Amino acid sequence: MKLRSVRGTHDIFGKEIEKYNKVIKIVSTNAKLSNFKELNTPIFEFSELFSKPLGEQSDVVLKEMYSFQDRNSDLLTLRPEYTTPVIRAAITNNLLNELPLKIFGIGPMFRRERPQKGRYRQFNQINFEILGSDDVISDVELISIANDILNYILPNKKITLNLNSLGTKENLIEFKNKLTKYFDDKKNKLSEESREKIKSNPLRILDSKNENDIIISNSAPSINEFHSNEIKIHYQELKNHLNSLGIKFEENNRLVRGLDYYCSTVFEFKTKDLGSQDTILGGGRYDGLVKLLGGPDISGIGWAAGVERISMLMSEEFNKNKDIHLAVLAEDFKPHLINVIQYLRKNNINYYWNYKYNLKKSFSKANQDNSKFIIIIGNEESEGNFYTVKNLNNSNQVSLKIDQISDYINDQS
Ligand code: HAM
Repeated sequence: MKLRSVRGTHDIFGKEIEKYNKVIKIVSTNAKLSNFKELNTPIFEFSELFSKPLGEQSDVVLKEMYSFQDRNSDLLTLRPEYTTPVIRAAITNNLLNELPLKIFGIGPMFRRERPQKGRYRQFNQINFEILGSDDVISDVELISIANDILNYILPNKKITLNLNSLGTKENLIEFKNKLTKYFDDKKNKLSEESREKIKSNPLRILDSKNENDIIISNSAPSINEFHSNEIKIHYQELKNHLNSLGIKFEENNRLVRGLDYYCSTVFEFKTKDLGSQDTILGGGRYDGLVKLLGGPDISGIGWAAGVERISMLMSEEFNKNKDIHLAVLAEDFKPHLINVIQYLRKNNINYYWNYKYNLKKSFSKANQDNSKFIIIIGNEESEGNFYTVKNLNNSNQVSLKIDQISDYINDQS
């Protein structure tokens, strides 16, 4: 058998896992600051949890779910997303007694999509959800957390926040009827893929990347024409708050999202640096979803971001964690080496040693890794019981007693 990984899956190691862990750490810190509680759901659920809420006609349900029959004939699905499992968990664990419930979670999702750059069949998502608040402040809070996290992790990337409001469920039904009629009149000019969606899922035609479809969609009715008064006020308030926070956004009335449960506010953070998989983070309101799943009639809003897509955009700066390299002249100095390693670990200083008693090789590895410092352990050093610490950025070197190393490194960093 030829050993290989399954198409669309990938092993995470080396720089990628360092970036991955960095993202998780920043997200967890942000989540805790805003009082989101972590919740992990199982990797698989009963299939029926997904089919209706995500939309029987959505791509995820029609083509992308990994479903299988258990030995006792239960139909199970590897979770393609986290919002529906988290609502299931909130209902089955009686977490909805005290509202609003603020939840975050991080973990793998599964979709059988065509693999390409930034698109996997197993990928990791960060998720934030607020259940039980229809206050516009929850929209603002979630969007600003997303904005802060992305700005912090990706300070040099051009990321655009796209914003739209899909109106109430009733507004959406009216809009979909108008769209079906509009596209049906022009069906001969639409791509085959879009033609198939006229009756089942006309919203998705607005999302098509086919040039002709885009031209036709540009003159299609806009959802804004169908907004109720309540939605108009909510949407305007949201935009006002974002403006006052200095969060830039672009209104995009063709932004519909790929899952059926959305209404009212929807948003996506996009970049041009990822090729066609240009959405880093997406979310919106899903009022009615909790009720559909058997819970109380409360609203909800949330977002998810792909960890792989964020990692792909992260610069190498986030990886400099081998702060100090060690260079050891000969095996005779093992006791000194062990002392230094022990000391560095106790003082939370990252170190790297290449297990070679060879100064030249250790120096070249330190340069290759862009390390800031190197500690030299050789004849002179061991005789005087001091260590030479060289700053590789400016070539300055000093002789230090072991317990002076930490202060020196911190001063110089
Ligand atoms: P989504 O737009 O389907 O939304 O996915 C959110 C993010 O997950 C995407 O923006 C992307 O970064 C990442 N992602 C999705 N599919 C893949 C893939 N095949 N490979 C790599 N990354 C991917 C949701 O899942 C909603 N549950 C978000 C949400 C939460 N809405 C409300 N609350």
